[in-house]
Amino acid sequence: MSRTFAKLEGVTKCYGDGARQACVLGPVDLEVASGEMTLVMGPSGSGKTTLLSILGLLLAPTEGRLSLAGEKVGDLPESRRAALRRRHVAFVFQHFNLLESLTACENVRVGLVHAGLSGRKADRRSREILGSLGLSGKEDSLPRELSGGEMQRVGIARAIAMPGRLVLADEPTAALDSVTGEAVMTTLADLARREERAIVAVTHDPRWPPLAHRVLAIRDGRITHEERRESSMPFSSAV
Ligand SMILES: Nc1ncnc2c1ncn2[C@@H]1O[C@H](COP(=O)(O)OP(=O)(O)OP(=O)(O)O)[C@@H](O)[C@H]1O
Ligand SMILES: [Mg+2]
Repeated sequence: MSRTFAKLEGVTKCYGDGARQACVLGPVDLEVASGEMTLVMGPSGSGKTTLLSILGLLLAPTEGRLSLAGEKVGDLPESRRAALRRRHVAFVFQHFNLLESLTACENVRVGLVHAGLSGRKADRRSREILGSLGLSGKEDSLPRELSGGEMQRVGIARAIAMPGRLVLADEPTAALDSVTGEAVMTTLADLARREERAIVAVTHDPRWPPLAHRVLAIRDGRITHEERRESSMPFSSAV
């Protein structure tokens, strides 16, 4: 049922060269499917952010092959890689990265206008998406007037307002209290299902696996365990 959206084959990442070379990732084989939320869990320094950066075309692998949306990324020039990234990848950051002087709506709208939407259309789409994430009435609030969970949901709105089907979230709940963290992870899991996005989220929190379709354990740069959950449960029935 699910379709592969990103694929890594024999991917490694090494830093430095010669005797000082350190290989921090791989080899990793991984397929990420649309309609699924995959969690990546592992100790600090195990390579989670490196893996996410390679998937999101922010970092080139040292070896191996990567394809995204059916296109082989390996030999493409940087300009073409950047175009693929803009078209297909959305990032949700741990610390939201909202622009402090812009309202919630304006924070979402910026990327849409940059992508070529008219001001009116961008405004309408921003409000629609904020509403779908439970932020109706907060559209015109500044980040400092929002709670942590609300700010993170604006960050998610900003990411998913764009067409990028691969949504990468690096510890999206780390800065949140547990209740808002739960709302954010539920939102991401719903998005995978509802909008057929391929979502990959790094987390340390043992409460989220029941929400995911798939959980990967990573240690010393390698995927050491994979657990697939045929039907991810809503959080309330998982506790
Ligand atoms: N630019 C770099 N140059 C050299 N080593 C690096 C570089 N970036 C990351 N590393 C090393 O690669 C390893 C994996 O880093 P990574 O950021 O992927 O870990 P992580 O699993 O995300 O950890 P955390 O949970 O602490 O965020 C670490 O040992 C790190 O020190
Ligand atoms: Mg990290």
